[in-house]
Amino acid sequence: MSQALALCGTDELVEGGLAVPFDVLYAGQSCRAFAIRFEGVAHAYLNRCTHVAMELDFQPDRFFDDSGQWLLCATHGAAYQPATGACAGGPCRGGLVKIRLSEDAGVVRWHTDWNLQPLVFPT
Ligand code: FES
Repeated sequence: MSQALALCGTDELVEGGLAVPFDVLYAGQSCRAFAIRFEGVAHAYLNRCTHVAMELDFQPDRFFDDSGQWLLCATHGAAYQPATGACAGGPCRGGLVKIRLSEDAGVVRWHTDWNLQPLVFPT
């Protein structure tokens, strides 16, 4: 069963701004993830490029390009659509792994899945 885990306050996710990072267990491996806000909606993805399985951000928590329209991998410049994670240009091979989010009462929550668990279960 999926669990909804508190990630951050709604106001911590600024439109086109810095991401909020968090750690997860994906398919049994620890992995970084990040949440961003695009066109008013919060989205989250595994921080793992589909070109080479590396983290995208060169500067901590900075994923948007200067136009605020694309998520960029700093290594070879792959571009992803912020709303879907789909590969939009460059050497990416498929889209980013999307993590389900919900927003309610001023809190952003991420949802676990069969292969997506918190690194440490909240007490
Ligand atoms: S590792 Fe991301 S573009 Fe190459």
